[in-house]
Amino acid sequence: MPAVIAKKKTTKKGTAAKKKALKKKAFKRRDGAPKSAKSKLYASLVVQLLSLLKGEQDFIANAANFSALLFNSLPNVNWAGFYFLHGEELVLGPFQGNPACVRIPMGQGVCGVAAQQCETIIVPNVHEFPGHIACDVASNSEIVVPLFDGERLLGVLDLDSTLIGRFDDQDAEGLNELTTVFVAHEEGLGL
Ligand code: SME
Repeated sequence: MPAVIAKKKTTKKGTAAKKKALKKKAFKRRDGAPKSAKSKLYASLVVQLLSLLKGEQDFIANAANFSALLFNSLPNVNWAGFYFLHGEELVLGPFQGNPACVRIPMGQGVCGVAAQQCETIIVPNVHEFPGHIACDVASNSEIVVPLFDGERLLGVLDLDSTLIGRFDDQDAEGLNELTTVFVAHEEGLGL
């Protein structure tokens, strides 16, 4: 059974304020407990992503660098990239990994279900997910995070792994934070 978690928040905030808050949050925990290695990694990725995006207005270039950052920084990931919403279907965007299927109808595959339900989906074993679309036969687990501009769905970020159960709630939290940084930067660029 797919694990559906963390409905995406769609509260609006100014872009600069959002970036500042995210950068601050990346280094602090409210409960003062020590951060796990994974949460430290995501905190460092927020900083690296902000640095990659700084001063660059080209959406494709930014999405490409974001996918490369994830692919090269997160262990045991064999595909990382975007599908963007065009009408009623998701269309392949910048990615790292093997060539992938280009068009995914809403409601189909893990990506289409995450987009339709507007929820992050963690799939511990893709072979148990009804309708999973196998772009790379080596993939065994997957996480899909929807991207929003306010209430508007822009598409999804998709990561695959050859390991069963590779992705957990910390990945979901970290990836949601990173996509929020990315969308906040891209807002107003005519997405
Ligand atoms: N597995 C996805 C398709 C995209 S690839 O993993 C890159 C899905 O079921 O939607």
